[in-house]
Amino acid sequence: METIKGKVVIVTGAATLIGAAVAEEFKARGASVVLADIDTAGGQAVAERLGSAATFIETDVTQDVSIERCVSQTVQQYGGVDFLVNLACSYVDDGLNSSREDWHTTLGVNVVGTVMMTKACRPHMVQRGGGAIVNFSSISAKVAQTGRWLYPVSKAAIAQLTRNMALDLAADGIRVNSVSPGWTWSRIMNELTHGDRAKTDKVAAPFHMLGRVGDPKEVAQSVVFLCSAQASFITGADLPVDGGYSALGPEQGVPAIPLLCD
Ligand SMILES: NC(=O)c1ccc[n+]([C@@H]2O[C@H](COP(=O)([O-])OP(=O)(O)OC[C@H]3O[C@@H](n4cnc5c(N)ncnc54)[C@H](O)[C@@H]3O)[C@@H](O)[C@H]2O)c1
Repeated sequence: METIKGKVVIVTGAATLIGAAVAEEFKARGASVVLADIDTAGGQAVAERLGSAATFIETDVTQDVSIERCVSQTVQQYGGVDFLVNLACSYVDDGLNSSREDWHTTLGVNVVGTVMMTKACRPHMVQRGGGAIVNFSSISAKVAQTGRWLYPVSKAAIAQLTRNMALDLAADGIRVNSVSPGWTWSRIMNELTHGDRAKTDKVAAPFHMLGRVGDPKEVAQSVVFLCSAQASFITGADLPVDGGYSALGPEQGVPAIPLLCD
């Protein structure tokens, strides 16, 4: 992971547990990290924890002016941009009942935000002779989940977008990949279970081969790997970081054939 040292990375959605873990992992490998999020209090708290290698820049990925400010401030402060992690997301989703505005919100943050951040960073990556981008897709991109339309569709779009970006940015020396996390210990799980990780693991166990939720650090390590020289021939790919969720069929881990004999 020597290739991460001295590099500059922008992480959107860095105020989250997963985003903070990604930032921390880059910092541990010697990168400078820009934490970009609309959550000022949360983002500043992460920046304070990480120390001098990290800077929080309040950024709204749905606003071009805000994106431009984030990228130009990064370049001013650190001299360029090498990596971009598009992690910010909206979970606004009421399935069939979602309004047109809800659709615009979720697609605006998750898909269009990813595109516009990429567009703004690209010239700076070209100036550095190339770079790497990691987009956040999800297990939700490939399966139907009750009452959820917007978020899964946005994540499926990101998987396709990753392939499009990878092709068109290859000539610039920019690799583009995505990660698809399974259930990962995050704000929403923390809130819903009042911090009960054992309960979260128990609920997740039947549909994750490894019988638990992922740790933010496990997702973060995959993101850093995809940016490193160890992944130099990987582009246009989606890496499941899901404890086997996507490889598990509807029969889950329960022997089904014996049921015929009952
Ligand atoms: N939590 C999981 O189990 C899980 C599973 C699969 C994929 N993921 C993906 O991991 C990523 C993080 O998920 P999470 O559950 O930690 O998310 P979260 O809801 O905790 O955080 C989303 C973050 O994005 C920021 N954000 C929202 N709108 C923004 C905007 N317009 N501009 C800038 N920042 C904005 C929020 O302030 C917040 O910090 C997402 O891309 C999500 O799709 C999460």
